[in-house]
Amino acid sequence: MKRIVIVGTQWGDEGKGKITDYLAQKVDVVCRYQGGNNAGHTVIFDQKKHSLHLLPSGILNPKITNVMANGMVINPKAFVDEIKKIDDFKLAISNRAHVVLPFHSELDKAYESKKEHKIGTTHKGIGPAYTDKAARIGMRVSTFVHPERFYEKLMKMVEQKNEELHAFGCPLLDGQSIYDEYQAYAKVMAPYVIDTSVLLNQAINDDQKILFEGAQGVLLCLDHGTYPYVTSSSPTAASVPVNTGVAPWLIDGAIGVTKAYTTRVGEGPMPSEIFGELAHSIRIKGNEFGTTTGRPRRIGWLDTVILRHTKRVSGLTYLAVTLLDILSGVDTLKIVTHYEFEGEIIDYIPSDIEDFESCKPITIDMPGWHEDITGVTSFDELPDAAKHYLNQLSHLVGVEIAIFSVGPDRNQTISMKDVF
Ligand code: IMP
Repeated sequence: MKRIVIVGTQWGDEGKGKITDYLAQKVDVVCRYQGGNNAGHTVIFDQKKHSLHLLPSGILNPKITNVMANGMVINPKAFVDEIKKIDDFKLAISNRAHVVLPFHSELDKAYESKKEHKIGTTHKGIGPAYTDKAARIGMRVSTFVHPERFYEKLMKMVEQKNEELHAFGCPLLDGQSIYDEYQAYAKVMAPYVIDTSVLLNQAINDDQKILFEGAQGVLLCLDHGTYPYVTSSSPTAASVPVNTGVAPWLIDGAIGVTKAYTTRVGEGPMPSEIFGELAHSIRIKGNEFGTTTGRPRRIGWLDTVILRHTKRVSGLTYLAVTLLDILSGVDTLKIVTHYEFEGEIIDYIPSDIEDFESCKPITIDMPGWHEDITGVTSFDELPDAAKHYLNQLSHLVGVEIAIFSVGPDRNQTISMKDVF
């Protein structure tokens, strides 16, 4: 395969950044195709931790071209904060991506505070920015980096958004001070702004290898996720063509990044959720706290109903299983195979959230292992129970495992199959 999509198969935080960074060593281009700084991708190498929110996870490799594609919503302040920490990089930003401005985050908070059923958003203004895009009143990057057009459009937006903020009883924003501050960010961004669809298609014509990096996970997809507890874009592989300007038939496959258990941040049903001492110890051991918001993540058993759903709606060529080491020390592991819903055994995610909420997990027990596996370098070195767990996972999802990881460092990633 030459053009591969990295997809989160659960509710995000599966370790996509780590897998992208690992595979990025073999590619020419890494392209982020949706979301904004609601994402948090942690990449660790040489004992140094890098937290990325907006930048593609290939940015730490100076030889790779990194693309922020048209499907993204970019907060310029967050962008400047992140890029100034990187010394040497190659980057292109789509002129068609949309810009997240201060009123988007303010409205995100205001909507959440008024909602009876909160989504638990990251408050980064992602939903309001995509809403503006869909309502055809948003601001593209090409407008943002054009000083006069930016000024004119910003003033109109501030006037309209202040009406909304006023209705919520929130403080109003001053257009001129936003302009003064954001003009400086526009100047930093401007040299990187191009039509990234041209760059990507040229790379394909030149037979280059591309990784398309999704943010969040398929269960947070606006269409195929657990609506309304979702983000406002589509992390599926199917969304790559429209979000990048690359034809669907030029994409060769998708790697589904799957945590060895399940986590979720924010509200919404999670049938495999566990509580108490075990959930707490997995949370601490796996450092299951949001990279973006610091919120504790909810913990659950591996849920294969979800994984088969992701496989179907997004397509998965291979799996990359992360955080296997965190499960060491649990006597008996459970895997969710089906749900019980209204007295029946089902193998799908009901569309209505009330129905999904009433699904009870049906599980199988798997023997755990107690060995520390953080130093293993091959599948054969794993304890039998860990091998069995991975084999069962692959069997239940019906997708071969190409990679698994046993620790946060780049060199704790084990390749079982060459994906390129
Ligand atoms: P938003 O994307 O900030 O609008 O948040 C919508 C939902 O997606 C909330 O439940 C968030 O917690 C969740 N979410 C957004 N980004 C991420 C992520 O990168 N990892 C996990 N959950 C996320």
